[in-house]
Amino acid sequence: MDIKGTVALVTGSNRGIGRSFVEALIERGAAKIYASAREPAKLADLVGRSMGKVVALKLDITDSADIAAAIRTCRDVKLLVNNAGINRQAGLLAAADLEAARAEIETNYFGPLSMCRAFAPILRANGGGAIVNMLSILAREPADVRLAKRLESSGAVADARGPRRTRQARDAGGRGHAGSRRHGDGTQLPTAEIAAGRRSPGGARRRRERTRRSLSG
Ligand SMILES: NC(=O)c1ccc[n+]([C@@H]2O[C@H](COP(=O)([O-])OP(=O)(O)OC[C@H]3O[C@@H](n4cnc5c(N)ncnc54)[C@H](OP(=O)(O)O)[C@@H]3O)[C@@H](O)[C@H]2O)c1
Repeated sequence: MDIKGTVALVTGSNRGIGRSFVEALIERGAAKIYASAREPAKLADLVGRSMGKVVALKLDITDSADIAAAIRTCRDVKLLVNNAGINRQAGLLAAADLEAARAEIETNYFGPLSMCRAFAPILRANGGGAIVNMLSILAREPADVRLAKRLESSGAVADARGPRRTRQARDAGGRGHAGSRRHGDGTQLPTAEIAAGRRSPGGARRRRERTRRSLSG
């Protein structure tokens, strides 16, 4: 889509990649950017140097009241960037309890899904637009593959297939996440990597088959 003149909303924009998204959108001529954060005070400098283009918004993507307030305020959005996310780096089996796993699912799955559901009607009413879903690095190697590798040493039988990410992205956004291609077997790869010849749909399938063989042999 054409960024020039568009109205965008970026989640988790007080730091990291989200802040860079806001700066890049300003540079590329977006008309207005709702920069959202759990603590909007942390957006003061971004707002201050944007010459009126950046509007600070309080938004915790796991809080339905915040999302409801956001859709009341941001009626003109055409580009939604679901950037906010967490990675607690807790082991699947090593973690003491499921708290980190639950927080990651709430933030990285239900959060963006809630945002997509809330903003799809707004994008539609504004003549269409785009949703960018930043997936966690955790999504690149599905959890069941990582778990299978750990179970291998105990001789347990595991299914190393990982269609979960695609199903999640499809349910969340209707067409999978931006910048990816879906293949016949249900996996997704970033289009940039395919275009650069670093990865291929066949390559992903072959890697999974090698993993399966090593687990069953
Ligand atoms: N960095 C990488 O190498 C990498 C690789 C692949 C994917 N990603 C993805 O890219 C996105 C940004 O990564 P990053 O490295 O910039 O992360 P980061 O520096 O840890 O920043 C995460 C941002 O998300 C916000 N956030 C967390 N939970 C939130 C919630 N419930 N509601 C609203 N905002 C919330 C944080 O706000 P607070 O300041 O309030 O905590 C922060 O602004 C994430 O989705 C991440 O999974 C990153």
